[in-house]
Amino acid sequence: MPDDDPEPPGPTRQRNIYMQGLADVTPDLPVRYEDLEATALDALDDGAAGYVAGGAGGEETMDANREAFTEWRIVPRMLRDVEDRDLSVEVLGQEFAAPVLLAPIGVLSIVHEDAEIAVAEAAADLDLPMCLSTVSSFRLEQVAETLSHEDGRGWFQLYWSSDRAVTESLVERAEDAGFEALVVTLDTPLLSWRERDIEEAYLPFLDGEGLANYFADPAFLDRLDVDPAENELAAIREFVDVFGDPSLTWDDLELLVGETDLPVVVKGILHPDDAAEAVDRGADGVIVSNHGGRQVDRAVPALEMLPEVVDRIGEDASVLFDSGIRRGSDAIVALALGADAVMLGRPYVYGLALDGADGVRAVGQNFLADLDLTLGLAGQSSIEGLDRSVLRER
Ligand code: FNR
Repeated sequence: MPDDDPEPPGPTRQRNIYMQGLADVTPDLPVRYEDLEATALDALDDGAAGYVAGGAGGEETMDANREAFTEWRIVPRMLRDVEDRDLSVEVLGQEFAAPVLLAPIGVLSIVHEDAEIAVAEAAADLDLPMCLSTVSSFRLEQVAETLSHEDGRGWFQLYWSSDRAVTESLVERAEDAGFEALVVTLDTPLLSWRERDIEEAYLPFLDGEGLANYFADPAFLDRLDVDPAENELAAIREFVDVFGDPSLTWDDLELLVGETDLPVVVKGILHPDDAAEAVDRGADGVIVSNHGGRQVDRAVPALEMLPEVVDRIGEDASVLFDSGIRRGSDAIVALALGADAVMLGRPYVYGLALDGADGVRAVGQNFLADLDLTLGLAGQSSIEGLDRSVLRER
């Protein structure tokens, strides 16, 4: 934030920062999401482009995620004094300046060499929390250091290893590094059938990308005969063996919740019964998500399940949403349906691909400006005040 800004902190100041931000938008970065995506995919090599843009099977779920938004229309209201708008929300008892987090996205080195460090810098500048993936290209400690140096905030996303010692070690490291919540991704005990990646014979982990956390983890290193620097292939094979655990059950979640002091948010929830079970087992929040259509082809669009999950557990736990958020109006729909916050995924990766930290910053600024303007023009002055009365179902 600029030191010479005379305005006090608060809703008005946030609005102005986002709008001032518009002046700094990288001119070359497309503003329309469709152009941003196309330009970024053009700039990437085929393997990386397919990995980021692709989904499971015939990619029906990816399309359905977007289609689901067309079922909801915003009904703008007039003459309601929307001069000062408040984008802030409370999630897990934590105060956020805006209802947006950057979703955990792995192996960002395949789109830009600065990868998660660039995302951390941009997230801190934007005052948006970053959720760091387990399969990051930089160690979680390095990313945490960047975040805290820049006054940023972070959550850590856990891929639950089949080796308990590795899981425990990752959680302990995330706690020690200062991450404020643990996001446990439940929808990826196995990597799915991704046709683009199979056709390209592309899986970045097999090239040693995205494994920084494992290669620096004492419990993981204990499994190896020699250091990854000496025999990378053996280390990669070991990663493939321990990455996921399809045998996990809800009893395991309860154990994990008991082992950490961090609030636990489970990611990948679609069925309201699963949401209720997660809360019964001690989770503090859920992320309604189908992993951007990357895991189960023909899975139900995440947005379709959001109202049921909110109705079931919204009073007892935080509910976040991702899978298909592209513009401010998408966020308004999800928030009006009861999400406490949304996660932005592929859009910021395309910003990163085109212009590193500046690209992520530009995408974030545009998104927040759009969100702020759409909120006000809908006749609403706060995110906390949104509810389903703002929407009309088609
Ligand atoms: C992801 N996602 C993901 N989720 C997670 O929990 N850990 C991870 O490491 C990753 N990695 C990852 C890589 C790539 C390239 C993508 C596109 C997505 C899923 C992510 O957090 C989020 O759920 C989706 O991106 C939401 O879908 P949209 O809105 O980006 O389409």
